[in-house]
Amino acid sequence: MLKKKKILITGSCGFIGYHLCKKLLGGCDVAITGVDNMNDYYEVSLKEARLKELEDLHKDFSFVRMDIAEKDKVEELFAENGFDLVVNLAAQAGVRYSLENPDAYIQANILGFYNILEAVRNHPVEHLVYASSSSVYGNNSKVPFSTEDKVDEPVSLYAATKKADELFAYSYSQLYGIPATGLRFFTVYGPYGRPDMAYFSFTRKLLNGEKIRIFNYGNCERDFTYVDDIVEGIVKILEKGPLAPYSIYNIGNNHPENLMRFVGILKDALVSEGLLPEDYLLEDHLELTEMQKGDVVTTFADVSALVRDYDFKPDTSLEDGLKHFAQWYKEYYGNGSVS
Ligand SMILES: NC(=O)c1ccc[n+]([C@@H]2O[C@H](COP(=O)([O-])OP(=O)(O)OC[C@H]3O[C@@H](n4cnc5c(N)ncnc54)[C@H](O)[C@@H]3O)[C@@H](O)[C@H]2O)c1
Repeated sequence: MLKKKKILITGSCGFIGYHLCKKLLGGCDVAITGVDNMNDYYEVSLKEARLKELEDLHKDFSFVRMDIAEKDKVEELFAENGFDLVVNLAAQAGVRYSLENPDAYIQANILGFYNILEAVRNHPVEHLVYASSSSVYGNNSKVPFSTEDKVDEPVSLYAATKKADELFAYSYSQLYGIPATGLRFFTVYGPYGRPDMAYFSFTRKLLNGEKIRIFNYGNCERDFTYVDDIVEGIVKILEKGPLAPYSIYNIGNNHPENLMRFVGILKDALVSEGLLPEDYLLEDHLELTEMQKGDVVTTFADVSALVRDYDFKPDTSLEDGLKHFAQWYKEYYGNGSVS
């Protein structure tokens, strides 16, 4: 299985990368090289704290601070290490920020991923697994979203770069026999999460007594997926290995939730951790507003291919997942509000 494998995980100090490293180091007997450029898209201290945990806990984790957009350095890293498996999670994430700073997406998601592909071409690996995103489905009206669906109409540059990554991976897998598996993640949440994501920024605002903005007047649905489910899916795919030279899978909860219900469950989780008072009136802290450019109304994952090929389906309920998030938030930030 994975015993003694040398695994490169890019984006290792990011939200999903940290959880994946932790899981693999927790019992798989693997040697992990983590790569991250520690950029300041969101608070660097969170990335440093994740890194510290990984370094403190595990002797089989080594970290290289590096930008995957620097081709020579990526090449050198691969030449020196002889990786068996690569999981590329490093990327500029976030839909809204791609309106503000498109350059960051081209650097990390296009140039960076191309450099990983070139390195894998020069130093073959058993399996390249890389993060794509549910955003490639754009505003497709057919639900649930299937990997068989046409995805040619991205509504953000972020989505376009993720779709481009899938195309690049396809051509490299055909041309150079690189087994490549792309994973379309659906709105991932959980402890040590990303402060730019709604559940995290909502938490901060609610704790600060501020109002939260609910887009599209609350008429949005998301297939919220707990981070442990994402990680379990990745590990299953790494363990069993590629089943075809090129594949794409959805990893999502397969159960979309209305954003208003999500916020209600989040509020309950914050109350039960004592972060908000028992009599907190959520309605007084909501500002319903119009849809944002680049956003989509619904996401809903068809995970039948994942179940068929890897016998796995995410199943963590929002109640459980948000409880874990609220518990972590309290432990990490204390009871006080953080701006
Ligand atoms: N979290 C989600 O809901 C979600 C949904 C769909 C897809 N994804 C994808 O999953 C992957 C991981 O996402 P995440 O939520 O952990 O995001 P994250 O921002 O927490 O993690 C990404 C990490 O990559 C690093 N990074 C960015 N550019 C880099 C570069 N050029 N070189 C080296 N490191 C770089 C960042 O510093 C960060 O630590 C990304 O590819 C993202 O697009 C995430």
